[in-house]
Amino acid sequence: MDKGGRRRLLRLPPERERALIAAARNAEPVRGLTHGFYKYPARFSPTFARAAIETFTKPGDLVLDPHVGGATALVEARAAGRGAIGVDISPLAEFVANVKCTILSEAELETLESWVVKLPAAIDIYSPSLRFEEYAELGYYKHLTHPARWRLRKAIEQALGRAIALGSPRLERFGRCVVLRTAQWALDGRSKATSVEEFRSNLARFANEMVRGAREFREAVAANGRCPVTVLNRSAAGLEEDIRVRGVSAPRLVVTSPPYPGVHVLYHRWQVDGRKEAPLPFMIANKLDGAGSSYYTMGDRKYPGLKTYFDNVRATMSSVAKIVDERTVIVQMVAFSEPRWQLPRYLETMEEAGLTEALLPTLKDAADGRLWRSVPSRRWYSDQRGKTPASQEVVLFHRKARGAP
Ligand SMILES: C[S@@+](CC[C@H](N)C(=O)[O-])C[C@H]1O[C@@H](n2cnc3c(N)ncnc32)[C@H](O)[C@@H]1O
Repeated sequence: MDKGGRRRLLRLPPERERALIAAARNAEPVRGLTHGFYKYPARFSPTFARAAIETFTKPGDLVLDPHVGGATALVEARAAGRGAIGVDISPLAEFVANVKCTILSEAELETLESWVVKLPAAIDIYSPSLRFEEYAELGYYKHLTHPARWRLRKAIEQALGRAIALGSPRLERFGRCVVLRTAQWALDGRSKATSVEEFRSNLARFANEMVRGAREFREAVAANGRCPVTVLNRSAAGLEEDIRVRGVSAPRLVVTSPPYPGVHVLYHRWQVDGRKEAPLPFMIANKLDGAGSSYYTMGDRKYPGLKTYFDNVRATMSSVAKIVDERTVIVQMVAFSEPRWQLPRYLETMEEAGLTEALLPTLKDAADGRLWRSVPSRRWYSDQRGKTPASQEVVLFHRKARGAP
C-alpha cells in the first residue's frame, strides 16, 4: 500500500498476467528436468516457478531463492538460461540443490548409464555391505534396527557403497541422491516395510529416470545458455553481509516459499513406522543434521503468537530487501494454519522488513485481491485437522519499499 492508502499494482501485459495466474493454480504433478530427484516437502510446482521466471526476468538475469529447499526455482532458472542463488539453513537442502543443479558432461552421463545397469546386482542380501560406523555412533541409523528392517538397511548400505565406488565427488553425489530418492520411497511415511526386491527394482527405475532427467537438464542449459548457480548453506538472515553475494548485481526476481506459519512440515527427517523420526537422509547425503525441527521451520508452532516464526521471517526477508533494488519483484508462495490473523501479521512483517505489497490488476477486485490456489495432495494435511485453511496457498507479490535501505 502506498502512503495514500492505495494498493500498489503490478503492471504486466494481460496475457502474461493470465499465464502467471494459470501457472500458479496448475495442479499437475511435478515432473521433468531434475525435479524428480527428491520429494522435498512443500516444494513449489515447477510450472509456477517457470512462469514467475519467464514473467519477471530475461535470459542472463539473476534469480534468488533465499529458502531454496529442494531447489525447484534454481533448476527452472538454470534451465531457462538465468543465473541463480539459492540459500537454505538445511545441509540436506544444500545437498539436493547441488545435485539437481549440476550439469553433468556427456561422458559423466554415459558412466552413470553403465553404473545403473550393474546397480540391481549389487543389492544382494547374501553379500556384505559397508557400515557407516561414525554415523551409527551418532544415531543416524535410528529406527532402522527393527528386525523387520535390517534387510532394507543392508540394501541401502550396499547401494551407498555403489555410489561411493563411482569415484568422483560429482558422480558420488548423484549416486547418493539415487539412494536418497529410493530410500525415501521405501521408508518415509510407510507403515509397512518394503521388501528388498521392491527396493532393488525401484533403485534401478529411479536411477534411470534421474539419468534421463539430468540429460534433459543438460540439454535445456545448452539450448538456453549457461549461467552460474550458487547454493549457500546458511540462514538467509544476514545474507547481505556474506562475502559470496557481496558485489553480485541485484536479482531481478526473488521467488521463494519460507516455512509456513503454524503449519508443521518435517523438512529434515523421514517418518518411519508411523511417526518415528529418522535422520537417515542426512547419512545418505553424507551431511550432519545439526538441529531440531523448529530450526528448519523457523520456530515452534505452539509458541504464543508464533513470535519466533515472525521474528525469523522478518530477519530473512529484511536481508532480501537489502539485496534487491526497486526493479526486483519478490514472489512468495505461503500457506497458513490460521489465515485470518496470520496473513495480516505476515503482511505486516513484510512491511517491517522493508517490502511493499503489490497486487495483480486482474484480481484486485476479487475477494481479497490476492492470488490463492488449492494445494493438491500435500502430505502435511495429515498433520492438520480436517480440511484446514492450510490446503490453500497464497501467492504474494512485493517490491522494495521506497526509501528502504
Ligand atoms: C517450504 S521450504 C522451500 C521449498 C522450495 N520452494 C522447493 O521448491 O523445494 C522452506 C525452506 O526454508 C528453509 N529455511 C528455514 N529457515 C531458514 C532460514 N533462516 N534461512 C534460509 N532457509 C531457511 C527450510 O530448511 C526449508 O528448506
